[in-house]
Parts: sequence; C-alpha cells; structure tokens
Amino acid sequence: MKSKLLDQHVLLRHRDVDNIHRLDVYLAHGGYEALKKALNQMQPGEVTDEVKASGLRGRGGAGFPTGVKWGFIPKDISPRYVVVNADESEPGTFKDREIMESNPHQLIEGIALCAYAVGAETAYIYGRGEFRTLFTTTLQQAVDEAYAKGFLGQNILDTDFSLDLYLHLGAGAYICGEETALLNSLEGWLGQPRSRPPFPAVAGLYAKPTVINNVETLANVPPIIAHGADWYRQFGTDKSPGTKIFCLSGRVNQPGNYELPLGMPIRTLIEECGDGIIGGKAVKGILPAGASSAIMGGDKLDTPMDYESMAGAGSMLGSASFIILDETSDAVWAAEKNIKFFKHESCGKCSPCREGTHWLAGVYRKLREGRGSKQDIELLNTIIDQMEGNCFCLLGEFVVPGVRTSLELFKDEYESLAREENEVEKPAQNLVHALL
Ligand SMILES: Cc1cc2nc3c(=O)[nH]c(=O)nc-3n(C[C@H](O)[C@H](O)[C@H](O)COP(=O)(O)O)c2cc1C
Repeated sequence: MKSKLLDQHVLLRHRDVDNIHRLDVYLAHGGYEALKKALNQMQPGEVTDEVKASGLRGRGGAGFPTGVKWGFIPKDISPRYVVVNADESEPGTFKDREIMESNPHQLIEGIALCAYAVGAETAYIYGRGEFRTLFTTTLQQAVDEAYAKGFLGQNILDTDFSLDLYLHLGAGAYICGEETALLNSLEGWLGQPRSRPPFPAVAGLYAKPTVINNVETLANVPPIIAHGADWYRQFGTDKSPGTKIFCLSGRVNQPGNYELPLGMPIRTLIEECGDGIIGGKAVKGILPAGASSAIMGGDKLDTPMDYESMAGAGSMLGSASFIILDETSDAVWAAEKNIKFFKHESCGKCSPCREGTHWLAGVYRKLREGRGSKQDIELLNTIIDQMEGNCFCLLGEFVVPGVRTSLELFKDEYESLAREENEVEKPAQNLVHALL
C-alpha cells in the first residue's frame, strides 16, 4: 500500500516501481547512479561528509549518527570490514525484511558506498536464521546480478575500488542483533556480547576496524549521495532527518510497514496508515520499540515519532516497531508474553539478565494463574530494580522499562489478579536473595 504521506518512497520503492528488485528495473530508475557518482566524482571522505551532513541516524535502534560512525574508522589499519545487521529479531519489527525482499539493490548499493567511504574490501550481511529462504533466493540473486554487472567484485566500474559481499545466516537468536554478539557469531563463536571498549570501529570483526550498520540505515545512503544532504533534510526534523519505516502491528485494522517522514504524530500512523483500531476501540498502550520499550499510554498519541520526542515522552523510537494495545487487551498477558520472549532469548552470559528474566517469568505466571499476591507485584519491582544498570549488555536492560511502565500504567489490572496474602502460598523471599 502506498503511504498517504509521501509522494514517493525513499526506501519502499517497490510500492511505486514494479519489480525494482530486478537489476534492469533498478538501473532504469536511477539505480547505481549514486555509486557511479561517488566512484567517479567523490573522494571516500567526501562520501562520509555527505552522509554526516544529511544527519542520517542509525535505524537499528540507537539512532547513532551514521556519518560520525564511519568517521571513527581508522584509515591506517587494514583490512577494514562492513557488516550489515539484518538480524531483525525485535518483536514487531519487519522492515529490513521488506527492503531485502523487494528493493535489495538499494541495500547493496548502500553497502558499496559505505565500503568505499571507509576503505573496506569485504562486507557481510548477517541475517537471522529464519531468513534462510530470503537469503538463498532473492537476496543471493541480487548479489549475483550485481557481481555479473560489475557493481561488486574486482575493480568496480573500472576503478581501483573492489568489494566482495557475502551473505551469512545465524541460527536465529535475538542477542545476535546486538552488534558485538553478531560479530562473535559471524566469526563462528557463541553469540554472546563482547565487552566494550574496544568498540567495533577500532577492533570489530577479526579485531579489525568494522562498520556495523542496520539494513535500513544503509538503504538510505544511495538516495543521499544521489540527491545530496539538503534534499534528504527536506524530510523529517532538524535532529531526526529523513524518512523512517514504521512497523505497525497489534490491534489496528491495517498492520504493516509505513514509510513516513520522521516527526509525524503517532496518531497519524495509527489512524491514517493503520486505519484505526479494530472495532473503533480506544488505544490503551503503545509499545513503540517492540518488546524493548517503555509502554506509552493512550494519551500520548500526539507525540511526534522522532528520536528526541519519543525519549521526551519517556520511551524511545528504537527500530520503530509500534505494537498497539487497545482497551480490550490484557496488559498483564502482554507483559508476560514479552518476558517469556526475553527469558528465552537471554544469552545467559550475565546473571542479572539470565536470573532476572527467569524469575520475572515465574512471578508473571504465578499472577496470571491466580496464585499471586500483592507481594508478588512488589517482587516484580524488586527484580527489575536489581536488573537495572547491572546487565552485561542492553538485552537485559531492555526488559526493565516495559515491566516498570506496565506496572505503573496498568496497576489496577495487576492488583485485580493479586489475592490476599492469607489466600495464597507464601511468596518465596529467596527469589530476591537469588538476585543479590
Ligand atoms: C539485544 C539487542 C538486539 C539488537 N538487535 C538489532 C537488530 O536486530 N538489528 C539491528 O540493526 N540492530 C540491532 N541492535 C542494535 C545493534 O547493536 C547496533 O546498534 C546496530 O546494528 C547499529 O546499526 P545502526 O547504527 O545502523 O543502527 C540490537 C541491540 C541489542 C542490544
């Protein structure tokens, strides 16, 4: 479906141009012109400068400025690598998949531009294991076509620039979206996070300088180089320029991916793009960054969807996977579902995350089965307090805001599940001690 709010898509171009996944069609619509321009008219540093000037921010979640990240890559250490994060494991996120399936050459061109800018000759796209079909058909075909026409391989477009691009599948683990766990997995080790520093820009893949960017981030680069930073800045806000793919799911009439300029209100996404809530019900809660986000109440519908405004409203934009709860949704059920996910996906490296998600899941289950007391609600708070700031990586930290805001916003629902103290078996105090 064509977004009602953009004349033409920047990323989801297959919605305007049929078969743009084919190289001939992509070329007929300006494909690889940005790469030609960069290789023939720009020094590598100028490509980085243009991306910096565009204000493009990483679309994998953290929103770090992309050009600044490229600028960190030391030029005196070789080899250098580009790694594309196509893990896309956050619940409710399905945007990178659509880009790779429907507009893969724009991603490949973005990778080539990034590699040229940082002086890398090898790049990898790391995908979650569930992307096997995509990686072995459409995406591999696009890579093969790009090699055949000289957009990848040796002496690209008869210049000194060479680039090999490999597709690599993980086994399907949320933690492998975390960039250092991804690098471990790509190297063949267990997918667990590394301590930082050193950061991947200095010591990444095989301890060499490595740029890691999300699929959507890199798909933005060809239009930026083709049309310039000023053109890109016509979309979005001053601090959050450009367009973004918003993944909309939950209790809406039309779930799906919608590409909008950053800074549009949440209401626009739900009401105009998603055609409102099923049965005309009221919005009860918004999870703007999938399971990892602080939940926003239904009174926050006018919050602009950009990095600053979402943080100002007490949550985050993250990868912009908006899961919508309506007045009929069971908030405790939804929170338990997220906790089960995190418990399953905790990599086990650190005890606050491994044990914390385990105990949270246990207490949620107890409450939902009618065996919990008010003390168990307190216990949920105690567990997240002890997890916060103590986890080795952000996976465990992501658990905290969802539980905390769920407890705050939907206190009545939790309390309605809690039985009186003398009606239930005594909550085990040693749950708390186990986390100390
Ligand atoms: C637990 C966890 C899961 C993550 N999953 C993804 C993911 O699936 N895709 C992604 O691009 N970034 C993910 N990230 C963020 C990456 O670590 C990293 O910031 C990102 O790939 C950088 O690319 P960008 O600057 O283009 O956003 C995850 C982070 C954490 C802590």
